[in-house]
Amino acid sequence: MPALQVPPGVEGFLSLVELPDDAWRSRWDRIVAPDGLKERLLNFVLFSLRHRARLDPVGLPVHGLVVLSGPPGTGKTTLAGGLADRAAREFGGSGLLFVEIDAHAFPSQLLGESQRAVARLFERTLPDLAARGRPTIVLLDEVEALAVSRAGASLDTNPVDVHRATDAVLAGIDHMARACPNVTFIATTNHEAGVDVAFLSRADAIERMGLPSAAAIEQILRDSISEVAKADGFDARALSALAKSCADIAAIGGVSDGE
Ligand SMILES: Nc1ncnc2c1ncn2[C@@H]1O[C@H](COP(=O)(O)OP(=O)(O)O)[C@@H](O)[C@H]1O
Ligand SMILES: [Mg+2]
Repeated sequence: MPALQVPPGVEGFLSLVELPDDAWRSRWDRIVAPDGLKERLLNFVLFSLRHRARLDPVGLPVHGLVVLSGPPGTGKTTLAGGLADRAAREFGGSGLLFVEIDAHAFPSQLLGESQRAVARLFERTLPDLAARGRPTIVLLDEVEALAVSRAGASLDTNPVDVHRATDAVLAGIDHMARACPNVTFIATTNHEAGVDVAFLSRADAIERMGLPSAAAIEQILRDSISEVAKADGFDARALSALAKSCADIAAIGGVSDGE
């Protein structure tokens, strides 16, 4: 399928693609997640894309926002893309639009510019995309860089402009929730404590992806070396001992979570 072009002059889009795409299928299949997590995510996204337009925003305020939280390297970004591809397979017709926002694209030295750029994204660029009328998923990857917490220490260490940008994100999410029911947001964060609480409070669901268990590590090892593991003479029993020692190293803090 030919790649969609990011419209000229649009800032903050990392990519824009049409899904489903067979090359994306493994993003969903290969991520090993805790029991029930993938099913909950898929149910939420399908519910949000199909029914949000008909919900009463006072009686049942659904923003169309799910957050995936967990240490770096636990598969959040990959799973978000896989989820969009998997959801797209449930829609017939012309497919689903998936746009990835570059959360790091907005800091600016010019006073007020970050806030204006974020406002343009949520009040013009994304609504223009939604106006194509297709089911649309927007990935806010590493949202801690976009919706920076306004609490406590952050107020001392971040310039006030950063917090104005957070205000613009909140206003933007509210605007999109009202005006664009065909859009659902997936946000990921490596550092939930750094995300503004008002942003988190708008999430319809927050799913946490911790470090994988020994059983999950074993499955990931099996999947990733499946061809070798099938070969004669390969002792697959060694994998469970290896997975157990990986899990032990993670448990004693040998795996950095990047903080
Ligand atoms: N639970 C998992 N199951 C299978 N592969 C994983 C898992 N977690 C991470 N990976 C692999 O590790 C790599 C990094 O994952 P990524 O999605 O970038 O993590 P994150 O966004 O949480 O930092 C990817 O190649 C992904 O397929
Ligand atoms: Mg990531």
